[in-house]
Amino acid sequence: MRIPLLAGNWKMYKTVAEAVEFVRRLKEALSGVRGVEVAVCPPFTALYAVARELAGSNIALGAQNMYWVEEGAYTGEVSPVMLKEIGCRYVILGHSERRQYFGENDENVNAKVKAALKHGLVPIVCVGERLEEREAGHTEEVIAGQVRRSLAGLSGTELAGLVVAYEPVWAIGTGRTALPEDAQQVNAFIRHLLAGMGGREAARQVRIQYGGSVKPENAAELLGQPDIDGALVGGASLKVDSFAAIVRAAL
Ligand code: G3P
Repeated sequence: MRIPLLAGNWKMYKTVAEAVEFVRRLKEALSGVRGVEVAVCPPFTALYAVARELAGSNIALGAQNMYWVEEGAYTGEVSPVMLKEIGCRYVILGHSERRQYFGENDENVNAKVKAALKHGLVPIVCVGERLEEREAGHTEEVIAGQVRRSLAGLSGTELAGLVVAYEPVWAIGTGRTALPEDAQQVNAFIRHLLAGMGGREAARQVRIQYGGSVKPENAAELLGQPDIDGALVGGASLKVDSFAAIVRAAL
């Protein structure tokens, strides 16, 4: 009943020319694919050109971040209005790299989530524990805090329509993937938390992805878990063949 979302987070990779060429090839590789949603999230500089190339295709566009204000004197920032105007459907918020290197925290992620929803963007809200937190047995406590604070003040309907990405920090870019049963356990825990916040129906509808070293070899097993509704893919989304193989693993 939940349509899996396979989203490629390109991070700070690809020039405009590379991005356009990539999506041209991805459209071909995925033509005729049904029953899953696919999105690419290029860097800001390539969004507009990629939007034009994706027009009329079955691939959606997402951004990797945004500010929560509509416009103003905020040098270097990009607003939800601007992302919406060029055809973004998704926006990744609270990625662990933004939390680690750019001072993001649950409170400003919460402001961004609310602004994204207000402007008709679907937030992909990232949560995940660090290695030392997992090893100390604090995974659920960390995840619960991030989910409750990042998604505070949202209605059941708003919660139902967004996407949560569980990305254990120790699995990002390390080649070390969470075991499918461990990822399933955390995703089920997140769904349980969301039921407490927005009701059972919202929890039943919300899509919860897994992210962290997803590749063609491990995708089917991860995506086969009952509470894993797609993947947020970093490195393996930068090559057409491997990203297309991950999308097909969800079918
Ligand atoms: O947002 C996706 C991500 O952080 C995972 O990256 O390279 O481990 O797939 P990667």
